[in-house]
Amino acid sequence: MKKITIPVLLGIFLLAVAGCEKDEPTTPGHNWTYNPTPYELKVPAFFPILDLPADNPQTVEGVKLGRMLYYDPALHADSTHACASCHVQANSFSSDAAVLPHLNLGWSSAFLWNGKVQGTLEDIMLFEAKDFFKTDLDRLRRHPEYPRLFYEAFGQDTITYELAAKALSQFQRTMVSSNSKYDRVLDQSSGVFLTDEELNGYDIFFTEKGDCFHCHGGILFTDNQFHNNALDASPEAGLSEITGQPLDAGKFKTPTLRNIALTGPYMHDGRYATLEDVIDFYSEGLQSSETVDPLMKSVHLGGKHLTAQEKSDLIAFLKTLTDTTYTANPALASPF
Ligand code: HEC
Ligand code: HEC
Repeated sequence: MKKITIPVLLGIFLLAVAGCEKDEPTTPGHNWTYNPTPYELKVPAFFPILDLPADNPQTVEGVKLGRMLYYDPALHADSTHACASCHVQANSFSSDAAVLPHLNLGWSSAFLWNGKVQGTLEDIMLFEAKDFFKTDLDRLRRHPEYPRLFYEAFGQDTITYELAAKALSQFQRTMVSSNSKYDRVLDQSSGVFLTDEELNGYDIFFTEKGDCFHCHGGILFTDNQFHNNALDASPEAGLSEITGQPLDAGKFKTPTLRNIALTGPYMHDGRYATLEDVIDFYSEGLQSSETVDPLMKSVHLGGKHLTAQEKSDLIAFLKTLTDTTYTANPALASPF
């Protein structure tokens, strides 16, 4: 038998490639093309590195599809809700109930108030599309547009939960908020400065005086961890519902404080209507329980006991975290 030499193999390979180029990227019977354009994510230099999964690269087509799925009630089993019905752009993709906002979630690896879903954005999006929305895949497959859009994004027209989750994740990774007043102050060339009140609030936030930074610190204003911040003497289950560990009772995901002025009511059960209520809680409403986080150092005193001026300065600082370019970004608005 003749040995297959490298030049022969190369020839076969080139033929194969040439063949592909001829038949692909058009599928038989359709006029669809799979030729995705890489999408360049704009992540600010002062943010942590964003991990991108190798098996879900950002593409223009994927982001476009994810954005449509996010805004289309067709994703929901009963077509009653779109993601955006509860995750409203003007409220930093939150809404009146205790809805967790959508911003900078590409840096998160544990999702939902009680940490029910751990992993990547793809994992939480799979949960949302499959378990929460119970998406009717057949309906999407019969849809006049989605089979082509899935093909353009992923090179296959068989719509699956996994592909829907990938598209939603790609869109979600473009939801970066990094242009608040605070961000502009950090950019020394901007000529933007904090007022005296905001600066005093900054000091309270980032020192032992208010002690907020231990959990809401860093440029993302969350440690993406779970804590019991002393809301209740008999805390709800929280993370312990998922881990089964009694020591995790009352622990909830630390929400980011970016855009916090836009996302009330506050806490996992929406118990506080305003930021004033939240600051009153941290100042004099702390409740002891067995699982209170050791970082809540003033719990035995009931709180930090801030003066009225300190409270309003702290709120003034929190308001510098509002990014209206994010809530008005047309690329994140409904495509319909
Ligand atoms: C009926 C209102 C509603 C709809 C519709 C909705 N969500 Fe949510 N979403 C919530 C609430 C409430 C939470 C917080 C619930 C919890 O943590 O248990 C949440 C939490 C999330 C989180 C977790 C954020 C974090 O910081 O951990 C993600 C991600 C999310 N939703 C994505 C979606 C996607 C994607 C869709 C569409 C497929 C969607 N949501 C539709 C109400 C909604
Ligand atoms: C031990 C960690 C920890 C510390 C310290 C801490 N927080 Fe929190 N914060 C949390 C957690 C966890 C939640 C969510 C709790 C819940 O809903 O059950 C939260 C919730 C909030 C919320 C509501 C967010 C929302 O989207 O509902 C605000 C506002 C807030 N904290 C501000 C502050 C300020 C201001 C300080 C300092 C005075 C502070 N926090 C100190 C962990 C902490």
